[in-house]
Amino acid sequence: MSKADLIVGLQWGDEGKGKIVDHMAQTHDYVCRFAGGHNAGHTIVIGDKKYALHLIPSGVLNPKAKNIVGNGVVISPKDFIKEMEQFENLEGRLFLSDKAHILLPYHALIDQARERMKGDKAIGTTGKGIGPAYGDKIARVGHRLGELLCPDKLTEKIMAYFETNKTIFEAMEVELPSERGLLEELEGYKTILAPYIVDTTKMMWDILAEDKRVLLEGAQGTMLDIDHGTYPYVTSSTTVSAGACSGLGLSPKDLGKVTGIAKAYCTRVGNGPFPSEDLGAEGDILRKNGHEFGTTTGRPRRCGWFDAVAMRHAVRVNGADQVALMKLDVLDGFNEVKVCVAYEVDGKEIDYVPYDLEDATPVYQRFPGWDKTKGVREFEALPKNAQSYILALEEMIGTKMGIISTSPDRDDTIIR
Ligand code: IMP
Repeated sequence: MSKADLIVGLQWGDEGKGKIVDHMAQTHDYVCRFAGGHNAGHTIVIGDKKYALHLIPSGVLNPKAKNIVGNGVVISPKDFIKEMEQFENLEGRLFLSDKAHILLPYHALIDQARERMKGDKAIGTTGKGIGPAYGDKIARVGHRLGELLCPDKLTEKIMAYFETNKTIFEAMEVELPSERGLLEELEGYKTILAPYIVDTTKMMWDILAEDKRVLLEGAQGTMLDIDHGTYPYVTSSTTVSAGACSGLGLSPKDLGKVTGIAKAYCTRVGNGPFPSEDLGAEGDILRKNGHEFGTTTGRPRRCGWFDAVAMRHAVRVNGADQVALMKLDVLDGFNEVKVCVAYEVDGKEIDYVPYDLEDATPVYQRFPGWDKTKGVREFEALPKNAQSYILALEEMIGTKMGIISTSPDRDDTIIR
């Protein structure tokens, strides 16, 4: 019986999970997604071809790997089908859980309407309908992928749902499809997706029993987790390790090595607290050097310094056995590099993530900068100041940085 290795984001998403998952997908038989939807995204470049992945697991780029999208994911059939078009011969190597919830265009319209109505209190969602789709699931009025196999029955249920919520939809100015339009839409999805819809829970148990090498691919990051992030400025799913169990039908005993991914600095998209954000010139340099613009929305990301307090919280919540420190080279050339080592809240210094981070200001420790780490492939070959920075971070967060990435290139990776 094998155990499933897990990759999770330790910050606010966009930590560079794509590079590590892509690297690990080469040695795993199965790659599985357990949470989120097409709000996630990364681009992988192979040769002169660029692939945009949002919902399909990264194992799709390894012809030998199979890919599972678990019950914890919300699937937009329309966007999923578009994503599938980048690849050939997916049948037999892509499996969708019959228990995953369906996200339809009206969910996106509700998401956008709610954001509009919130005005300056908006979350800054991706506008893809993630919150409304998970909301329906939790309120027990959602629909699962298995139901797509009977489009007429599903249409009937959705039309009844529209009827019950008619006044709300009208107030939100959400345009709903006609019964006929909806039926045709669902029939179209069924034709394409039916061969991929299976009981992935049983499948997960079988492949672990067969000793297959299984990799679980997290989406977003710990600080965007519905329970452990900066609520309400979070996404609507369980992004931490525990979500991998419920999102795929595994028990905690099925989990193997947990690798947490973190950047050598911090970014966040959307609104909400970000204590170590740098709104000055140095933040701009991080954004420019790190190409910090969203893959899914193209939005400029907010940038700031490594937050060791939030990282300790994330390492503990996820049970990270090691951290992969990404984009170290983006810090090249700074005279001084800062790390947030505590927060000040109401005049008191604290070393943990409080209930509300809104009024927390950072307490920084400063480290001397370095010239160049870009492309370095051995720890000992890094500039001494970069080595000291990493060793100090390890001390602060209590976990080894087992992987260090020094450029987007697959090979520019230090394995310790
Ligand atoms: P939602 O997931 O679209 O509801 O957005 C909720 C919050 O999560 C917003 O701040 C988004 O910017 C953020 N978010 C969602 N997905 C990602 C991601 O893949 N990377 C970074 N931030 C994300």
